[in-house]
Amino acid sequence: MTKKISLTGIKPTGIPHFGNYIGAIRPALKMLENSSTEGIYFIADYHSLTTMHDGKTLRENSYEVAASWLACGLDPEKTTIYLQSQVPEVMEFNWIMACFTSKGLMNRAHAYKALVQRNEEAGRDQDQGINMGIYTYPILMACDILIHKSDYVPVGEDQLQHIEMARDMANVFNHTYKKEAFKLPEGIAQKGVLLPGLDGRKMSKSYNNHIPLFLPEKKLRKMVMKIQTDSQPPETPKNPDDSLIFDLYKYFTTEQQQQELADWYRRGIGWGEAKQQLFEAMNAEIAPARERYNELMADKAQIDKALQMGAEKVRPQIQEYLREIKELIGVG
Ligand code: TRP
Repeated sequence: MTKKISLTGIKPTGIPHFGNYIGAIRPALKMLENSSTEGIYFIADYHSLTTMHDGKTLRENSYEVAASWLACGLDPEKTTIYLQSQVPEVMEFNWIMACFTSKGLMNRAHAYKALVQRNEEAGRDQDQGINMGIYTYPILMACDILIHKSDYVPVGEDQLQHIEMARDMANVFNHTYKKEAFKLPEGIAQKGVLLPGLDGRKMSKSYNNHIPLFLPEKKLRKMVMKIQTDSQPPETPKNPDDSLIFDLYKYFTTEQQQQELADWYRRGIGWGEAKQQLFEAMNAEIAPARERYNELMADKAQIDKALQMGAEKVRPQIQEYLREIKELIGVG
């Protein structure tokens, strides 16, 4: 039996933070390890182009994201990883699908609607600052998914509407030609673990409470030491269940380590010592990946090689598929 295909696109936004690692990268890699599905990951650089118009930064971000996944353990021999723009066939698909997508469907996209609403609230023209790439973003995303005949698409909840749209587009096409030309993908909502950030709220770049994943050891320690604590003296017994430091500690340690630190809290622990324990746990988790990350970023040819391997692997199948579709619609 052929394997089911699980596909995910990652927008290149630079070095991930610990929240991305705990919430998305670590669970995704764990799932790949003992999964019977074939994993395909791609860096969605054309999707980033909708908002990022600085060439150097966009390219660097793509490298950083690719290097992060590779460093954290994605094996390019087992899991396909490629750069979206290195599979140009998707752009041919993109035009084809655009001709089967109603404008009204795009008008209903949450992301687009939010931008329009923001403009209206600010008393601006409703389309100010919205380029056609943003508007048709869901079409390109549908193509990313449909060209691989993907079965599953694990995404954050905010992306589920886009998967529904991909299904709509595939349906319209299939109906038109009375043929199951496109497979209907299934969105899999990744609830994900939400790691708290330095201020206790969900770790997020937009709250600026995040810890970048590959900070040098010294800088990582410095950031952990900046976590705010109260002025209780070390000998005062403390409640581990009411401590951001302990909360964070849990994501990087075994139950036994947690038990030991909880006991120490109850006996009385200095906040500096508690933070040192947290830093050591985080550092132990990430140090091997950080080393690989730094190696990859110092020799980008290694990253290029992995990405090229991915593109070379998927392109022949996609080209064949594209030929069939073009035959069906009567072009080419
Ligand atoms: N839009 C997705 C995001 O912002 C990224 C993405 C692009 C994607 N193409 C995709 C995700 C295809 C899944 C499948 O996170």
